[in-house]
Amino acid sequence: MIEVLSVASEAYPLIKTGGLADVAGALPGAVSRHGVTMRTLIPGYRAVMKEAAAGRVVAELADLFDGPARLIAGRFAGLDLIVIDAPHLYDRAGGPYAGPDGRDFEDNWKRFAALSWVAGRLAQGLIGGYHPEVLHAHDWQAGLVPAYVKYGPLDGVKTVMTVHNLVFQGHFGWDVFHRLDLPPHAFYEGVEYYGGVGYLKAGLASADAITTVSPTYGREIRTPAFGAGLDGLLNARASVLHGITNGIDISAWDPATDVTLAQTYAPNTVHKRLINKASVQTRFGIEATAGPMFAVVSRLTGQKGIDLIASNIDWLVSLGATLVILGSGEPWLEASLMEAVGRHPSRVGMIRAYDEGLSHLIQGGADAILIPSRFEPCGLTQLYGLRYGCVPIVSRVGGLADTVIDANEAAIEAGVATGLQFSPVTSEALGETILRAVNLFKQEKTWRRMQRRGMRSNVSWDQSASRYADLYASLLGQDRDEHYQD
Ligand code: ADP
Ligand code: GLC
Repeated sequence: MIEVLSVASEAYPLIKTGGLADVAGALPGAVSRHGVTMRTLIPGYRAVMKEAAAGRVVAELADLFDGPARLIAGRFAGLDLIVIDAPHLYDRAGGPYAGPDGRDFEDNWKRFAALSWVAGRLAQGLIGGYHPEVLHAHDWQAGLVPAYVKYGPLDGVKTVMTVHNLVFQGHFGWDVFHRLDLPPHAFYEGVEYYGGVGYLKAGLASADAITTVSPTYGREIRTPAFGAGLDGLLNARASVLHGITNGIDISAWDPATDVTLAQTYAPNTVHKRLINKASVQTRFGIEATAGPMFAVVSRLTGQKGIDLIASNIDWLVSLGATLVILGSGEPWLEASLMEAVGRHPSRVGMIRAYDEGLSHLIQGGADAILIPSRFEPCGLTQLYGLRYGCVPIVSRVGGLADTVIDANEAAIEAGVATGLQFSPVTSEALGETILRAVNLFKQEKTWRRMQRRGMRSNVSWDQSASRYADLYASLLGQDRDEHYQD
């Protein structure tokens, strides 16, 4: 077995703000079937410590970035975790990155340098008997991991840096550098970003391998339009950059057994979704129409193209369709959606909340899910949509382009269509696609076929987990087939 330490700032079901948590939560189980043992290092936020408080203390640190810390190991909420219990860094109200007022914590540089620094120490054998061979770092919060390994005393431990979203880079002032416990030359070898410090950049410059969460996003981020200032570096490192599409946890997301649904169903009983549809209509206080019920389950941000949805609501309603929205985010987007609800209270419903159970019910009842993202590294909601027969309507970018097959005439004819794609990412193109969906919905047989096709498409982790396992093995110079048979 290959021993991998995954380093992440969130992991479902303990703490989640987005898809990163789903991935960090599911990956260990997925790779375990491919010859990899994966433990996860995570900060001891309040929500995590609730589970981990009774765990085994495996190390004590007198001073972890200005305060004492303990490492607690154990199996919590189904995950094999090493938790950093450092109250001065993590025991506070709010989310993982921001306080209750929504503002980022001022000491985030310290909170996530600590996460990465501890990972580096674990690679050096901080816990007796535990020797991870690969450190797998997720996003900027773990961006310093490859740097701590590269500039640390140990040779042989390999690092993988996964980019879930290149736009979040962890930029801090230059004055932070001297607190990071890195040698001075590390600054100009990759940690420096426009005179300050860039955590993700440090990871991209120092890691043995870089992955992104879909092949298309892997190509996009090497262009100025999607590269967020790092396309030059990513091009320089193209030979170690891999795009591996995310999977989903198909046991947690299974319409045949999902207890949060009003009615379970399978591909051949997809008509039963109507019971869930009725239940969603009741929850959102909207009426039933003959047209499709569209849904949005999302962070309400510019990335997700929510403004394009807002500008299409009157159009959508005029076509006889309805819309339900679950999510919260940027105030101006929330406000424009709420205005639309005000104009069409019986046709458009919105719940400004984060509600895992309701998100399942929506996927199990809505006819189509709208995902008009301006960029989308992978996207999980379209995968949940496919699995639940909730037809994804997506912009042709990133992972959305890679996972949905557009219902053009040829694809319908061949029986391979699983959703609708549009491009460019404009309000007009989305509007045309909404019309296309409303018309397709009228062709009941074609729509059903598309739903079933989606439900049967492979959105599990299996293939991708095998690719991660191959990557770890190749970094260690191993032939995985042999290794796997050990
Ligand atoms: P991102 O991570 O960029 O937000 P993804 O599509 O990868 O986008 O993942 C989003 C995850 O968050 C999915 O699991 C989705 O179901 C969930 N999600 C987003 N908004 C909500 C919400 N308001 N309530 C429940 N789940 C949500
Ligand atoms: C990020 C991306 C999203 C991706 C998720 C998990 O949040 O925005 O596209 O699915 O990470 O990799």
